[in-house]
Amino acid sequence: MTATVIDGKAFAATVRENVAAHVTRIKDESGVTPGLAVVLVGEDPASQVYVRSKGKQTVEVGMKSVEHKLDVDTSEADLLALIDQLNNDESIHGILVQLPLPAHLNEDLVINSIDPAKDVDGFHISNVGLLGTGQKAMVPCTPLGCLMMLRDHHGSLSGMNAVVIGRSNIVGKPMANLLLGDSCTVTIAHSRTKDLPDVVRAADIVVAAVGRPEMVPGDWIREGATVIDVGINRIERDGKNKLVGDVDYVSCSEVAGAITPVPGGVGPMTIACLLANTLTACCRANNLVEPEGLTA
Ligand code: GUN
Repeated sequence: MTATVIDGKAFAATVRENVAAHVTRIKDESGVTPGLAVVLVGEDPASQVYVRSKGKQTVEVGMKSVEHKLDVDTSEADLLALIDQLNNDESIHGILVQLPLPAHLNEDLVINSIDPAKDVDGFHISNVGLLGTGQKAMVPCTPLGCLMMLRDHHGSLSGMNAVVIGRSNIVGKPMANLLLGDSCTVTIAHSRTKDLPDVVRAADIVVAAVGRPEMVPGDWIREGATVIDVGINRIERDGKNKLVGDVDYVSCSEVAGAITPVPGGVGPMTIACLLANTLTACCRANNLVEPEGLTA
């Protein structure tokens, strides 16, 4: 079998178009412009690229974009004061503090100081709890993007066996909760899982989010399974810099029914879902009807 390629780049473009159409409607109907504030502390090059891309796409869908770039040695008190100011700014509906933060800043404290209603990353402990108990939450962008692609490909996910490889707070755990919410039978596997190949072979859906280049070979994949590759790993191959996922794309795509490529799979969906979350937060803050299909 040669897998169907799930084109995350094209799908993200349709999500952005959908968001943009709703932004136009909301502006016309209520005069409100959804606003996203992104806070970057320090000058990590990868984070700078992400933040620039987020700002550009925010403007492209018609939203207000605000960027706060702070010195690497910004104090915790100053960062918390900025977040407090953004929490109280009615023109801002989403706040994202780019991670990782410099080591002297307490990441948990900073994230939990964001108003949960503006927490478009879905990292605040209140949103984690709401998602874990099946209540209306702000949902982390990367797992939300994976869920949207799975729903688009399969329709209903009910009763499917899903294996999530990786137990991070940002991807693995929320992904498992979302799949459970769609009535999958969910296993979270990780570095200590016994017989990992056999666990993965039982899956109708495999979500790989471990951060290890090409860790999952094709012979772990059940014939016809759907493979969602969250990994973005830079490696050297044949003297060239290459971007690869957590699954071995060549061997997995020979066995899987559907697979996301790297690049062009999950990656583009993450920012599209950030925009979707900002729109959702804006609608909730202003008692506007929430668009369908843009959240869990
Ligand atoms: N750094 C890498 N990915 C993310 C993300 O999704 N959100 C935030 N806030 N920081 C990140």
